[in-house]
Amino acid sequence: MTAQGLTPSQLLLLLLVAGAAGAGGARWRGEGTTPHLQSIILGRCAEYVALLNPDQRDKNCTAIWEAFKVVLDKDPCSVFPSDYDLLINLSRHSIPRDKSLFWEDNHLLVTSYSENARRLVPLCNVLYGTIGDFLSWCRQENASGLDYQSCPTSEDCENNPVDSFWKRASMQYSKDSSGVIYVMLNGSKPSGAYPVKGFFADFEIPYFQKDKITRIEVWVMHDIGRPKVESCGEGTVKILEERLKKMGFQYSCINDHLVPSSTWPGESCCWPASSLVPSVPQLPGSSLSSAFPALLGLLIFSLYWVASLLKPGY
Ligand SMILES: *[C@@H]1O[C@H](CO)[C@@H](O)[C@H](O)[C@H]1NC(C)=O
Ligand SMILES: *[C@@H]1O[C@H](CO)[C@@H](O)[C@H](O)[C@H]1NC(C)=O
Ligand SMILES: *[C@@H]1O[C@H](CO)[C@@H](O)[C@H](O)[C@H]1NC(C)=O
Ligand SMILES: *[C@@H]1O[C@H](CO)[C@@H](O)[C@H](O)[C@H]1NC(C)=O
Repeated sequence: MTAQGLTPSQLLLLLLVAGAAGAGGARWRGEGTTPHLQSIILGRCAEYVALLNPDQRDKNCTAIWEAFKVVLDKDPCSVFPSDYDLLINLSRHSIPRDKSLFWEDNHLLVTSYSENARRLVPLCNVLYGTIGDFLSWCRQENASGLDYQSCPTSEDCENNPVDSFWKRASMQYSKDSSGVIYVMLNGSKPSGAYPVKGFFADFEIPYFQKDKITRIEVWVMHDIGRPKVESCGEGTVKILEERLKKMGFQYSCINDHLVPSSTWPGESCCWPASSLVPSVPQLPGSSLSSAFPALLGLLIFSLYWVASLLKPGY
């Protein structure tokens, strides 16, 4: 049967079926493997060790990539945090004392804080965090190639490649943090500033090295023009305070600490490390001009993605 032989309604049906098949092709809820994964990871690693942090120039990016790609041969629901042990071993480095910044749901603020202050080192500014930032990766379910259509999230299966990476990376970041620990929470979140289940609660707090930490300072940030859902000493922030005090940590909390005057958001940071259910980065509601670089980035990324769909390969 050729196209000429079809009635308009048959043609419409065919198009609908083809469209449904295309949409239904996604097996999982998460984004598919980032095109050119290998080039991106090798490039980020090279840039990090050559330009951003030359103290780490002895790191072998080829070996780091080889340690990483082992998970690309595994079933996408059977990748465990320990599968990244060698990768972490090859890429880990010390974090300067008093420079750790933990965060939940403040993607854009984290970057502007660490950049404006030029002093804090959040997870996305250590080598292993840089490598995974904003990327997605997984093997196909029953075949050996990568899945460029979709990858599992925590809703599909717990032991998926991306979450397991961030769990392992978060654990290491926590273990290597010392001195004063800063924690940035979003006090405008309807569900509460401190998610009692999340990367910070489950994969960071339990790995704090008590003897290396002098105190923990929590910053509860509020978006301008949004209701203050929680502040220091309230709701889930109180739960966090009690947990940390019970663990024997010195605790303090500041509302809306030092908001930098120019909050150019730059790139978003450490996605999706902030929560167990990754979400797309949120743009601050304050002004369109501050959102522009992020939107432009998204547009370029989309074009890149569409272009690479035509010619997949890592
Ligand atoms: C880096 O690692 C690769 C792969 O493991 C290895 O072949 C290469 O010799 C290493 N390079 C250096 C300079 O150690
Ligand atoms: C990680 O590195 C340490 C040395 O820094 C070594 O003793 C250990 O065996 C390594 N572990 C793995 C999994 O490679
Ligand atoms: C804080 O949470 C609110 C509500 O979820 C969100 O709209 C806002 O973008 C978040 N703020 C930052 C700085 O990420
Ligand atoms: C993979 O194989 C399993 C078991 O044979 C099957 O249930 C599942 O639907 C397959 N998945 C895909 C995407 O083909």
